[in-house]
Amino acid sequence: MDYKYSQIQEVASKLKDPELLKTKGRAILRSPELSGLFSHLKEMDANNRAEFGKEINNLKTELTEILDNMENESIQLDPIDVTAPIDKNVASDKHPRLLTSSHGSKHPLMTELDNILDIFYRMGFTALESRQVDDDFHMFESLNFPEDHPARDDYDTFMTTTGLIAPAHTSTMQNRVLVSGKKSLEEGNPIASVLPGRVFRNEDVDARHGHTFYQVEGIYVDKNINTGHLISTFKTFLEEYYSQEMELILQPFYFPFTEPSFEFVLSCPFCQKNGCNVCSYSGWIELGGCGMIHPNVLKMAGIDSDIYTGFAWGFGVDRLVMMKHGIEDIRYFMAGKLEFLRQFS
Ligand code: DAH
Repeated sequence: MDYKYSQIQEVASKLKDPELLKTKGRAILRSPELSGLFSHLKEMDANNRAEFGKEINNLKTELTEILDNMENESIQLDPIDVTAPIDKNVASDKHPRLLTSSHGSKHPLMTELDNILDIFYRMGFTALESRQVDDDFHMFESLNFPEDHPARDDYDTFMTTTGLIAPAHTSTMQNRVLVSGKKSLEEGNPIASVLPGRVFRNEDVDARHGHTFYQVEGIYVDKNINTGHLISTFKTFLEEYYSQEMELILQPFYFPFTEPSFEFVLSCPFCQKNGCNVCSYSGWIELGGCGMIHPNVLKMAGIDSDIYTGFAWGFGVDRLVMMKHGIEDIRYFMAGKLEFLRQFS
């Protein structure tokens, strides 16, 4: 900005020197040069006085703006890459002490879940993950649990006041898979799905029971399917998973959604039935439930149970993995203890 009065122009040229501004900072607004200008005011004739005073104020404003800009510039930091890991943005001597430099690893349950699903893919099953919040229809009604039936008590889980449920089993997915597969089934393609997911139970927690664990549900529907198909499918899977011959026994059981229903028990892959602490020295381990899908469950999904039959199963992934690696306590999976997890990295 240029000033009409030479005295003001002179002071302006001197004070606007960047070096001077940098060293003096805001003190420049109280400099003798600036206050000296006011003493000229008295000497001015009345015509020029107002204009002269205005120019002094303009100079003050100009200097203040320059100082403001200089301050803003000095606090401008290098831009941060918000997508970068913390150690790229933070100088290495400022890293939090607890930020480990070692790499994380996949949780053993997830590694094994991938292995399990891979075997089923190769057997022709497709996978669909179950939900972690569900409703009464999928948890009970669609699975042939009549309202107020005592069988519901076996699946005591967590529920919101609005009726949403933390599912106690992956069977919640059966109706969805049956409904979506019905058309293709009628065109001649069997329904073959595995349904992995996290499940929740109001459980007295101990070495073998967790309140939160993983299951893999399986469902197969076509014409002329019988229990023999169920046994051979499951035996094939287990022998592939444990890379050894296994004995599988079906014991009669009760589930509302299968008829007949079984609990399947397999020979301990850890001690080959000799008895060890994994199988509580019995040589056998109970792994889950299975059976022929109840006609009511098929009907609920609109599938004609006079034409189609199918089998289903549900087993606990945690238990399967415990038996594979000889892990004695199910609680290790949730404990987040590095000593445990590093053994699988
Ligand atoms: N949902 C049962 C449970 O968690 C296990 C089960 C039993 C699943 C029989 C099935 C089945 O699909 O047919 O106790």
